[in-house]
Amino acid sequence: MTMIPTNDYEQQLAGEAELWGTDAERQAQETPPDWRYHRSLRHNIIYHQADIDAFLEHVQPSMATLELGCASGWLTLAMAQRGANATGMDISDKALNVARRYYETIQETVNGSVTYEVADLNTLELPAATYDVIAVKGTLHHLVRMDHVIAQIYKALKPGGLLWASDSHGEESLPTVLVASGLMFLLPTQVSYGEKLRGLLRFGLKSPSRIKASIEAEGLSPFEGAGREHDWVKLIGERFTVERRVDSPAVTGYITHQVKLPDWAALPLLHGLCAVDRLLVRFKLLRNTGVILYARKTAGEQ
Ligand SMILES: C[S@@+](CC[C@H](N)C(=O)[O-])C[C@H]1O[C@@H](n2cnc3c(N)ncnc32)[C@H](O)[C@@H]1O
Repeated sequence: MTMIPTNDYEQQLAGEAELWGTDAERQAQETPPDWRYHRSLRHNIIYHQADIDAFLEHVQPSMATLELGCASGWLTLAMAQRGANATGMDISDKALNVARRYYETIQETVNGSVTYEVADLNTLELPAATYDVIAVKGTLHHLVRMDHVIAQIYKALKPGGLLWASDSHGEESLPTVLVASGLMFLLPTQVSYGEKLRGLLRFGLKSPSRIKASIEAEGLSPFEGAGREHDWVKLIGERFTVERRVDSPAVTGYITHQVKLPDWAALPLLHGLCAVDRLLVRFKLLRNTGVILYARKTAGEQ
């Protein structure tokens, strides 16, 4: 079992909470933390919308649901909007306050209910056989005790309950990094073409490794990549029955965040890129770096 490093742990965790809290506040100023609005954000249109909608189909009225690492609560709220009694947990009280404030403004229109709780997932103790559905999105790779969290999720699900986990998985492979580097060079991004050319001349063959570092540092936080030493897909597969696995495209996610073009030009371009990317992943010419698992706790087990 991975032990929690005591030195600086609390301080780093406070930094993690502050960073995601500030991020949630900034995002909420641009878009309300609500899937009905978030679904129209560019990165969601391109590669998350269908996956999130497919997951939400599994949430039925009166179900007890839990989201771990819920941040501003848009997914927890979406489950409640489908009638669930939804709990969202996160280390960032600041992010949860964004979630709570928004929920107060629309509570009357929500079929189910929402509760938000501050919790450190690395030390979390959950009640047994309580939830029909547990969701964890983009959070496992921040955890130093992933094995502990997965064991707690298993315990907390009712027999036959569903874990939906979505996260990055594994290292960026060389072909993926090379394709991402080429696209970053060719497409308009925040970096001007002059600067790109100067960077290429300066860093030469080292340019792709700089892109690799940039991909891995996306959303950089004190615990970014802390969970990379664990294989969460394997850990979940050891306990649960994996009903469905969805491999994300390899480069589209990163490129979508970098491209600087108006929607009328970006959307067809990114849709086309995503379709080709998925094919290359399917035929194993590129390695996906994100995975979604639908994993079931065996019925009859407590
Ligand atoms: C990349 S964000 C994902 C947020 C949200 N699930 C989404 O997809 O929009 C990671 C979230 O995990 C939370 N987190 C990181 N470490 C945590 C921990 N040890 N305990 C609880 N939450 C944690 C952060 O505060 C942040 O809200």
